[in-house]
Amino acid sequence: MPKHRIAVLPGDGVGKEVIEAAMIVLEKIDLDAEYVEGDIGWEFWCKEGNPLPDRTTQMLKETDACLFGAITSKPKEDALKELDPSLRDKGLSYFSPIVRLRQEFDLYTNLRPCKAYPGNPLNYRDDVDLVIFRENTEGMYAGVEFHPLPEGVRQALLVHPKMAKFKDLPLEEIAFSTRIMTKKACTRILRRAFEYARKKKRRSVTLVEKPNVLRETGGFILDIARKMAKEYPDVEFWEANVDAMAMWLVKNPQDYDVLVAENLFGDIISDLAAQLVGGLGFACSGNIGDDYAVFEPTHGSAPKYTGLYKVNSTAMLLATKMMLEWLGEEDMAVRLEKAVAGVIKEGKVRTYDLGGKSTALDVAHAVASKL
Ligand code: IPM
Ligand code: MG
Repeated sequence: MPKHRIAVLPGDGVGKEVIEAAMIVLEKIDLDAEYVEGDIGWEFWCKEGNPLPDRTTQMLKETDACLFGAITSKPKEDALKELDPSLRDKGLSYFSPIVRLRQEFDLYTNLRPCKAYPGNPLNYRDDVDLVIFRENTEGMYAGVEFHPLPEGVRQALLVHPKMAKFKDLPLEEIAFSTRIMTKKACTRILRRAFEYARKKKRRSVTLVEKPNVLRETGGFILDIARKMAKEYPDVEFWEANVDAMAMWLVKNPQDYDVLVAENLFGDIISDLAAQLVGGLGFACSGNIGDDYAVFEPTHGSAPKYTGLYKVNSTAMLLATKMMLEWLGEEDMAVRLEKAVAGVIKEGKVRTYDLGGKSTALDVAHAVASKL
């Protein structure tokens, strides 16, 4: 029996192309694994009214880890228009399957390394090496949202004095999203960040928040972080407001190490940080829980490029490297990262984002030939 059982979810758009690239590399590296492909994405929303069919969730439960390509998400109105007419009056609503996977499998850490590989012409600086720990299950993306606001919810919220000014507005004129932060989720994401910093001998952990305005939620996680920081005298603990952080990450990204943030803030700063080291063609993510993980490139499905094999598959290959690490295949992970770094440094294979004409598969073959 193979040592690992891996779920492969190509998704749609360029997801299928970058997954093909990952498979080329995995085959070459000879990971002892069985791969099981599953359905996910826009196509299944349109046909079945569910972008994450139950059979897929079930299949994931029978695997050790998952490689995910990309999926298309569209706003509410557009999603309804594309739904099969026979499903239209069933009250179905589209949800992002990757966000759902993170929540359903409790993949509470979204780990996003942003490292400048030498020779990448898109590096903003060559000395950037950030690791972002984005909380992945709640915060602003908890999914507790309303439009229109139900009267019962409004009534309950009237206990808050600031709610008074919304008291007489028509309910359909109020859209409402909540930022939910629990002690459990704050504690475990911070723990992961501090433990990582200690293990990898990183200098600092920075909590990226906004506690001067979001006093209750921001203040809550800050308090937990300050207490936890005392357990890590070997790691410096820094606090930054998210707006200032956006500026500092452009000004002096080399000064930062490990960043930890709530879901929305982590989403935003991780795109910013990705751009410092070459953009989405290089940005990889691991959605990691206690006993399951889904690895993906941070980029989306880029519908306009579908079928052209033009996107940079480096992000997917780096996500594959993260998966190998998580599976305990450290040597393979190191070899893969070296091969990717080698191809970047040589600069012969360049996809369109780097001004070249190479394809997603050219990148994979070049990496494979270095393995
Ligand atoms: C990401 C993406 C997703 C997110 C989208 C596609 C739902 O932006 O992984 O960062 O917001 O988490
Ligand atoms: Mg994002």
